[in-house]
Amino acid sequence: MWNEFFTDQVVVVAGGAAGIGGAAVIVFARAGAITVILDYDDVAGQGLADQLTGEGYRAFFRHCDVSSETEVTGAFDWVETHCGPPDVVYANAGVEWTKDVRHTSLDEWNRVVAINLTGVFLVSRAALLSMCPRNKGAIVVTSSPHALATVPDAGAYAASKGGAHALVNALALEGAPFGVRVNGIVPGTIDTPMVRREAEAARDPEAQLAFMVLAHPLGRLGQPNDVAQVALFLASPLASFVTGAMYAVDGGLMAALPAGPAMTYNAE
Ligand SMILES: NC(=O)c1ccc[n+]([C@@H]2O[C@H](COP(=O)([O-])OP(=O)(O)OC[C@H]3O[C@@H](n4cnc5c(N)ncnc54)[C@H](O)[C@@H]3O)[C@@H](O)[C@H]2O)c1
Repeated sequence: MWNEFFTDQVVVVAGGAAGIGGAAVIVFARAGAITVILDYDDVAGQGLADQLTGEGYRAFFRHCDVSSETEVTGAFDWVETHCGPPDVVYANAGVEWTKDVRHTSLDEWNRVVAINLTGVFLVSRAALLSMCPRNKGAIVVTSSPHALATVPDAGAYAASKGGAHALVNALALEGAPFGVRVNGIVPGTIDTPMVRREAEAARDPEAQLAFMVLAHPLGRLGQPNDVAQVALFLASPLASFVTGAMYAVDGGLMAALPAGPAMTYNAE
């Protein structure tokens, strides 16, 4: 079914070398799209592009640090020249941050904001500049539950994601008169290299992973493909009346309040 929508469409995924972005590149490529991975991890990015090309799909890699205006502009120029104007852009690149505010230096703060928020601005701006004149296109942004509620040691991450979350509304309003749709995804804990790094950094990685699972009413971590499938839907004509929306792909995480044993009122 997806091939009907995406064959020969140009799809750019920022932060597409691994994790959620990597899964998105795979589903779009399998749906017939010409996919472009933008990432600052050259080995993983080129590796995924080579793997997909070897399987008969169309995938390209361009080095791009999303926090660099020159690199983002250069990457989108390359896409226009070599693949054609982008039909779908997924602003997904992001980095984790697990320190409280008192122990976060200004340089550390600036780096997290530069990638997680300014990166979304730069990638989405390039997308809108190309899409609006053509009255066509869809942009997807990866937000986070930390945009809405957070933990004590993630101040810079929460602030950066809160900014990206709010930016989706502004981008959706700006794109709407041109028929360009912009939506966000709020993933729960997804089993990616980022989450594995976070768990490893905990005092007890096994216990940390078990706790992460428990926090999700569906009883498991999300898989990158769970998020990629929703990105595919949001970018497709099936979502033609969806813009400015935030889609939770979180196994029920944000539906739940913390509850102790005494909160079980109906014994079964
Ligand atoms: N994994 C989760 O549980 C989870 C939950 C909520 C939100 N998110 C968000 O989802 C997105 C993807 O997360 P993930 O878990 O797949 O992470 P990941 O670390 O597994 O993969 C992120 C990818 O982005 C790339 N990247 C990072 N900084 C970049 C930069 N400056 N320029 C270009 N590429 C860059 C990395 O090289 C990597 O390929 C991030 O924005 C993250 O904040 C993740």
